[in-house]
Amino acid sequence: DLYNFRHIGVDTKVHGVIGNPTSHSKSPHLYNAAFESVGFDGVYLPFLVDNVSDFLNTYSSLDFVGYSYTIPHKVDGLRCCDEVDPIAKAIGAISCMIKRPSDGKLIGYNIDYLGAIAAIEERLHDSNGRSMSGSPLYGKLFVVIGAGGAGKALAYGGKQKGARIVVANRTYAKAKELASRVGGKAITLSELENFHPEQGMILANATSVGMKPKNHESLVPKEALKHYSLVFDAVYTPKLTRLLQEAREVGAAIVYGTEMFINQAFVQFERFTKLPAPKQLMRDVLARNT
Ligand code: ATR
Repeated sequence: DLYNFRHIGVDTKVHGVIGNPTSHSKSPHLYNAAFESVGFDGVYLPFLVDNVSDFLNTYSSLDFVGYSYTIPHKVDGLRCCDEVDPIAKAIGAISCMIKRPSDGKLIGYNIDYLGAIAAIEERLHDSNGRSMSGSPLYGKLFVVIGAGGAGKALAYGGKQKGARIVVANRTYAKAKELASRVGGKAITLSELENFHPEQGMILANATSVGMKPKNHESLVPKEALKHYSLVFDAVYTPKLTRLLQEAREVGAAIVYGTEMFINQAFVQFERFTKLPAPKQLMRDVLARNT
């Protein structure tokens, strides 16, 4: 059961995900099960929101602890914070907002790229052996598709690890802006097909393309995936997107979006509750629901 309404009372702490769409989100499954398992009096709801600022104003009296932010509100969410963590500020997007208990101020953080970058590094270590020192992303050409909140976070994370960044985006102006922020190069989506300055590149999809229930599409032709040694997809519903399936077929290592999702969920759960996350339970709930 997703919600246990018998447990919801006046002291129940409210949490949720702010996005549009939210129907694909597995967060309510994950957090509600996790709250219950550690005996935390909380509820986590999906909030289908058009305008973040209107939503926060309308529900300003709601005694919430924190909200997760997803497509397409990671950038607007940042503008609605009273204070923004330096990393989220550098990225230009938030993945969660927490109300500071002492003064009710809304503080924005960006934690979702950490899990993705860690999972990519882990997978590269597995393929290349652990002998190399430093990040296996160092010096690699890292192609990020998308220049929204997730794209910004991944480009920032890759840059921090010393990768050379290429940003591809439907709206080219946004690709250019992000590329210049991380000292990288911008290309158009159509250029992706013939973009292979070198072998062994890393690819990350940070757009919603490939997400259920809308489509089973991929922005990169299968043939072009041969130039990548590793492909990551931020989309996690379905777990095996067309992009990941085709990448695997051409022999690239793949990293599922669920890795990014679950790792940020652990961190966020701990920030919401101040309790250790029941990691195995959360992994099991996610596995049952993807
Ligand atoms: P998020 O914060 O989760 O990254 P977002 O800020 O709305 O969400 O960004 C969505 C990204 O997916 C953008 O890069 C968007 O491209 P545009 O900047 O051109 O809007 C990309 N995107 C969404 N739908 C797309 C589609 N059908 N084809 C290509 N790119 C798409």
